[in-house]
Amino acid sequence: MNKDMKTKYKPPQHSRRKALQLVLGSSTALLTFGCGISTADQSNAVNAPSILDNLQVDANQLIQRVIPSSGEKLPVVGLGTWQTFDVGNDRQARKRLIEVLTVLQKMGGKMIDSSPMYGSSEKVVGDLCQQLGLRKELFMATKVWTSGQQAGKQQMNQSIQKMQAKSMDLMQVHNLVDVDTHLKTLRAWKAQGKIRYLGVTHYTTGAYPQLMRLIKSESLDFVQFNYNMKVREAEKRLLPLAKEKGVAVIINRPYAGGSLFRVTRGKPLPEWTKEYDINSWGQYFLKYMLGHPAVNCVIPGTSKPKHMRDNMGAAYGKLPDEKGRKKMLTYLESL
Ligand SMILES: NC(=O)c1ccc[n+]([C@@H]2O[C@H](COP(=O)([O-])OP(=O)(O)OC[C@H]3O[C@@H](n4cnc5c(N)ncnc54)[C@H](OP(=O)(O)O)[C@@H]3O)[C@@H](O)[C@H]2O)c1
Repeated sequence: MNKDMKTKYKPPQHSRRKALQLVLGSSTALLTFGCGISTADQSNAVNAPSILDNLQVDANQLIQRVIPSSGEKLPVVGLGTWQTFDVGNDRQARKRLIEVLTVLQKMGGKMIDSSPMYGSSEKVVGDLCQQLGLRKELFMATKVWTSGQQAGKQQMNQSIQKMQAKSMDLMQVHNLVDVDTHLKTLRAWKAQGKIRYLGVTHYTTGAYPQLMRLIKSESLDFVQFNYNMKVREAEKRLLPLAKEKGVAVIINRPYAGGSLFRVTRGKPLPEWTKEYDINSWGQYFLKYMLGHPAVNCVIPGTSKPKHMRDNMGAAYGKLPDEKGRKKMLTYLESL
């Protein structure tokens, strides 16, 4: 267990209605408080995974950001599913992903991002969320990744079916493939209530000009793109533009595919990171981005419950301001 987290998250001092204290790993784990974080339907619940033993989180400290087009709040850390959820019927892998999803939800996370491009991921997400009774708890996002109006509609209907979502929370055009065609369908589907939000995604800086064109010309709810402490091109124009135009931002590749950890392997966190409630390098990388006011949500991918817990830890406590972000960057570059 992450020793730092155990000491960091103190039992809540607030009233029961306002605060959530989860002390999991015992039969008392399944409780719902009036704080916007609730737990799985008891009838579908699995045993609380040991990774949650002694976890104490204060729901008042959960950081959420408003989606500008609706005013709805979304917790700032979610979960990506590229590769990690492409496990088909592998029982062992599914068991571990059940723990990942349980940690996400118990710690107040909502956003889960998939795509028809990710092999069996959409189906695995759908099956496991159904098994856990989590469908209503989570904010489900997926994508359309094909050309042509009919093919797009067919693929999106299949995704909705696979993820077992009556309506999809967010449908995005993956890597801008046939974007103008699909945005027409998405606008119509949003009006019909088949999806709640629409957006576009990419994962390379080369696509930023096109993303910016769409932010200016279309009524987008969300834009998803790559940004991390290694690749910070988005800070120049894309993030400020999204903020100015009121488009919610989802960050993919927040760990540069995991390569950021190679820089910090074996290196201790500096003492001053406690100022920002940072207890691991993962939280350091995520909180750097979450300190940017344009960022709504980061979606690190993981197949490990302990990493999910670590990542969700970044959604709690203090965030760095601009000065703090600069300090974090300078320190990382000095390693
Ligand atoms: N065009 C698009 O729309 C697009 C493109 C790329 C990505 N995405 C989305 O963005 C998500 C995130 O991107 P990504 O998965 O490519 O890269 P990423 O989130 O930057 O990195 C994932 C890697 O980090 C590791 N990791 C996660 N949490 C960790 C922790 N706390 N400590 C140490 N290692 C940790 C994971 O390994 P473990 O499994 O061992 O934890 C995995 O190897 C994707 O899953 C996908 O949903 C969208």
